[in-house]
Amino acid sequence: MSTTAMSNIVNSGVIACLRAQSADVALEAARAAIQAGISVLEIVVSTPGVFQVLHQLAQEFPTTTLGVGTVLNLKDAQNAKNAGANFIMSPAFLKDILDEDLLYIPGVMTPTEILSSYNAGAKIVKVYPVSAIGGVQYIATLKKPFPHIPMVASQGITTDLVGAYIDEGASAVVLSDAIFDKKAISQRNFTAIYQLARFAALQGHEAVKRKEKIYPS
Ligand SMILES: *[C@@H]1O[C@H](CO)[C@@H](O)[C@H](O)[C@H]1NC(C)=O
Repeated sequence: MSTTAMSNIVNSGVIACLRAQSADVALEAARAAIQAGISVLEIVVSTPGVFQVLHQLAQEFPTTTLGVGTVLNLKDAQNAKNAGANFIMSPAFLKDILDEDLLYIPGVMTPTEILSSYNAGAKIVKVYPVSAIGGVQYIATLKKPFPHIPMVASQGITTDLVGAYIDEGASAVVLSDAIFDKKAISQRNFTAIYQLARFAALQGHEAVKRKEKIYPS
């Protein structure tokens, strides 16, 4: 199950990260994004009713890879797992969550954090907050000593940079406001979210395809 989540993330190139002010808006926004072609979606744990929303989406979209994000403790990780999550993300590294039986993507920033998370058993890490510490160039630099460690780039990424991040070695990027635009969410404009999600899914798809051509597996 965790290897499936991992390969779905790498094949998609984009993880859509949703936070919403209500369960109702979260559900509608998630549906719009998934119908637009998003295949990996993370819901931030502070979203009201997050576990019910996740459970509902897991039933409606059994082939979509679903996760819970910004998880800071083991209890939330277990609730996410029980609700049907395929992966968990954190802004930092929590050893307790790594011991759970599903894909855990810890947040890391420095080379030492990357290597120690990987050595502790993380199969993939989230470089966060990437835009604040150098963006695409930071990922390119980190991939030199760590070509074997899969990395997700997260924080402040716009859709036009998805290709650049993936070309420089990111396995996938996290897009939040770039898909779930704050204004569109507050106005419940799910058509706008559909359009943003469609564009993002396409960018991910094209970047992943380009990479497969350069480095056939
Ligand atoms: C929703 O967003 C779309 C695309 O950005 C825009 O064309 C449309 O006018 C918006 N609808 C409303 C009701 O604001």
